[in-house]
Amino acid sequence: MKILDIATRPFAGQRPGTSGLRKKVDVFQQPHYLENFVQSLFDILPDRAGQTLVLGGDGRFHNRVAIQTILRMAAANGIGKVLVGRGGLLSTPAVSAVIRKRGAYGGIILSASHNPGGPDGDFGIKYNIGNGGPAPEKVTEAIYARTQAIDSYRIAGDTPDIDIDRLGAGSLGDMQVEVIDPVADYAELMQQLFDFETMRAWFAAGHRMRYDAMCAVGGPYARAIFEGMLGAPAGTVVNGEPREDFGGHHPDPNPAHATELIAAMSGPAAPDFGAASDGDADRNMILGRDFVVTPSDSLAVLAANATLVPGYKAGLAGIARSMPTSCAADAVAKALGIACFETPTGWKFFGNLLDAGRATLCGEESYGTGSSHVREKDGLWAILFWLNLQAATGLSVEALVRRHWAGFGRHYYSRHDWEGIATERADALMAALRDKLPGLSGREFPSPDGATLRIGSADDFAYTDPVDGSVSTRQGVRLLFEGGSRVVFRLSGTGTEGATLRVYLERFEADASRHDQPTQQALAALIAAAEAVAGIRAHTGKQAPTVIT
Ligand code: G1P
Ligand code: ZN
Repeated sequence: MKILDIATRPFAGQRPGTSGLRKKVDVFQQPHYLENFVQSLFDILPDRAGQTLVLGGDGRFHNRVAIQTILRMAAANGIGKVLVGRGGLLSTPAVSAVIRKRGAYGGIILSASHNPGGPDGDFGIKYNIGNGGPAPEKVTEAIYARTQAIDSYRIAGDTPDIDIDRLGAGSLGDMQVEVIDPVADYAELMQQLFDFETMRAWFAAGHRMRYDAMCAVGGPYARAIFEGMLGAPAGTVVNGEPREDFGGHHPDPNPAHATELIAAMSGPAAPDFGAASDGDADRNMILGRDFVVTPSDSLAVLAANATLVPGYKAGLAGIARSMPTSCAADAVAKALGIACFETPTGWKFFGNLLDAGRATLCGEESYGTGSSHVREKDGLWAILFWLNLQAATGLSVEALVRRHWAGFGRHYYSRHDWEGIATERADALMAALRDKLPGLSGREFPSPDGATLRIGSADDFAYTDPVDGSVSTRQGVRLLFEGGSRVVFRLSGTGTEGATLRVYLERFEADASRHDQPTQQALAALIAAAEAVAGIRAHTGKQAPTVIT
């Protein structure tokens, strides 16, 4: 055991979020940098001695090095046992599932989610607690405070690297190390939730699927489940081998980054079902033939049809969505007579509702969907849910969505991201918007269809957690129009360069004869209203959003 001095401190110029510590790889490669975070984590877990932790990551560059360091440090800090995914791999939802199934004390996830990987890409580390979910703010704050004060760390001496590529039990000093199959516990949980028999029959009947793992950690899970357990033909999973640099791609499944999948899903020869997940496989994207499902619609469709799936046949306790996610799920909750909770952006806000049994399904517009089966969003789970619905109803993805719109109305939806804004300019834009809030109600804007758009009310979203009463303010400026349209402005909390303004646009259309407009056209009047109210171009000096999803 060595005691070394700390040369670098994590979080320089950055506050910790529940996404943990996320930085460029070369920052993590600095001596003692990762060690500082890991020792700080152990220091704030006073009852860590003898406990079991789960450890794994999305396989990005630096994953293997970090795993060996963390194992040595865990041994020197009295951890009883570490369960490591073979090859250092575990998707984020799989870590959550393993923690819960094995009753582990917590888990360490090595990932920078959907950010690019490789020597020039990003790396990240975060801690999940015993319920399987991200550490709550009081824990992340405690880690942060400790990182700024710590001056030494404990690490087992120069032992040979643990072989993490062979399943089975070993040890490091007094600590047990068990290398586990990264897929097994997760796949077993999926079998409990979904109707594997019916899905097998769907593939056997000749239906085809294309799942794009984006060279990230979803590949091994998808191969085992779709091609292995469900009998989908070989080649259903593409980009299925996890690569340290994700093949040079941006492993973020959305229309901007999954262009290859969107192209493959177009035309008569396209498979029936297309899907993708991100770096750590917690996000998902759903496509039919020539048809892209928005994440807000996805949540609503899953909720409306949940009782067709074995794991949810008893019905839902409630639905939760992040505030900028469209109100499509609210319409379903209303019809089902259950609650729909509107939470601030970020998965952590769902944890209390899930733990308290008040919500069963939850989702965000940012391609995140999940349920009470784990405490993270879950990409493969959402994809299996859609597969189960297609197999159970015999309907295509497009038919399921159109049937949904016909019954509940359509919530046209889009997010415009303005990236790389100077931080002061972005802050000034938000401050100006907040100043204008009191005068916004009643303001009118022209609409191409002749009707006038009128702001009914406007506010800065605040949330009181219904379980623990905690209050989160300043979560985004909302323009709530009469008739159900909304525009939301907020600054991203996850970007690494400058500020990103996110503008969320939503318009409700009850009339089924008007469900076929191109999305940006359907939202044109709202887009113009957003510019008129916020002065985005003048504030940012930019002419157009960088990414439209
Ligand atoms: C983004 C998404 C948000 C998600 C988070 C973590 O955060 O918008 O829904 O929970 O990534 O995946 P943002 O950059 O908007 O703060
Ligand atoms: Zn992710």
